Amino acid sequence: MADRPVIFVLNGPNLNLLGTREPDVYGTTTLDDIAGMLEDRALELGLEIDMRQSNHEGHLVDWIQEADASGAKAVLINPGAYTHTSIALHDAIKGVSIPVIEVHLSNPHARESFRHVSYVGRAAKGSIMGFGAQSYMLALDAAARI
Ligand code: DQA
Repeated sequence: MADRPVIFVLNGPNLNLLGTREPDVYGTTTLDDIAGMLEDRALELGLEIDMRQSNHEGHLVDWIQEADASGAKAVLINPGAYTHTSIALHDAIKGVSIPVIEVHLSNPHARESFRHVSYVGRAAKGSIMGFGAQSYMLALDAAARI
């Protein structure tokens, strides 16, 4: 059977704590739960998921470059708080040719003003936010269509 096109799903700081972290904001679904949901949907779409999480900005930069170099079809990225601070992630996204889709569980625009700026969103193909764990599923469907 031919290899399925790969979608990298990158998760930034504190997302390893999903399930117990501020459940009123982020819900009780864990990152492993999300990985399972994405893998099931990816199978239906004929895609493969490579899901990763790091609390370190440089790892996310490396993985964006790796996704492009390895011929992945797209990157979904929830950069956590680096969304609002990281010019390095902005530049990494600008520097690759594959589409990068920004994902958030919450809607940062409806929260504190320091979350209203997204350096990642300025470089991304598009952004999906505010739908909890379903944001990832919607982003995967978007990646399959572009
Ligand atoms: C988040 C939103 C960010 O503002 C926050 O720092 C996170 C999670 C989200 O998925 O809603 O860590 O990216």
